Amino acid sequence: MKKVRKAVFPVAGLGTRFLPATKAVPKEMLTVVDRPVIQYVVDEAREAGIEHFIFVTGRNKAVIEDHFDIQFELNHTLAQRGKDDQLARLQRLQPLAGQTSFTRQQEPLGLGHAVWCARDIVGDEPFALLLPDMITLPDQGCMKSMVELYERTGTNVIAVEECDPEEAHKYGIVGKGANIHTGFEITGMVEKPKKGTAPSNLFINGRYILQPEIFKILENQERGAGNEIQLTDGMLKLARKQKFYGFHYRGRTFDCGSPEGFVEANVAFALSRPDMRAKVADLIEGLVADFGPVRRRSAS
Ligand code: G1P
Repeated sequence: MKKVRKAVFPVAGLGTRFLPATKAVPKEMLTVVDRPVIQYVVDEAREAGIEHFIFVTGRNKAVIEDHFDIQFELNHTLAQRGKDDQLARLQRLQPLAGQTSFTRQQEPLGLGHAVWCARDIVGDEPFALLLPDMITLPDQGCMKSMVELYERTGTNVIAVEECDPEEAHKYGIVGKGANIHTGFEITGMVEKPKKGTAPSNLFINGRYILQPEIFKILENQERGAGNEIQLTDGMLKLARKQKFYGFHYRGRTFDCGSPEGFVEANVAFALSRPDMRAKVADLIEGLVADFGPVRRRSAS
């Protein structure tokens, strides 16, 4: 069985939900506490044993490449000023030479197309795919457990979480079959099902391990939901020939693709840090008191 060595990060999206913040700054570079969103996702992949990080970028995303490069001047200045902790931290997060690749999705044709753009860099081996909107708390990475399930099954693995059935139309949804090892057999998949037609409330949370045969399928994949080339439609075709297993992730994910989710991530990540927790909890309590009681919208 081939090891999962490479991970693909589709980072070409425009980030329109964050305008004007994303006019000049890619949404993946927005900061959760003190790291850009993309850094958390790369760290999750590294924790899972990934050795090569492939970014499918687009126009105005060059700063992502800079972020994963060595900043010699900065390192030199930190060393001169005796800021050894900060320097060590930067070095710990630094990919080694040759561990990153960048390619461009020239047109926004959908997730399936973005993944296909990485075909030559991935080559003929299984790969991890991590959508950068979703981040998980450090040490609760989803990909590490997925790699363990892959090592037992040797095939395709998709992570899912439960959603409110009312929200199922926003996601890719899978059908659940028999349990196996730490996962279950996937019996069906549908991208953005019409209300009331979803096979379950298990949504694809943006973490995948896929076999390279997906690329040939994506090459000829016609447009689906939202008039885009959908990865889920390609996976459905691959599922006729290869097994797909689901991994039910039970840690917490934060959807940094929406402003509210992004604020939630910032608060949660700050509260999860021992060096900030007490101070931030005080600040939040103080702010809630200052702004007065929160009037919630009624459920009806
Ligand atoms: C994509 C996938 C979808 C998945 C979602 C998770 O959709 O196509 O299957 O559930 O990511 O965030 P998008 O968010 O790009 O519409």
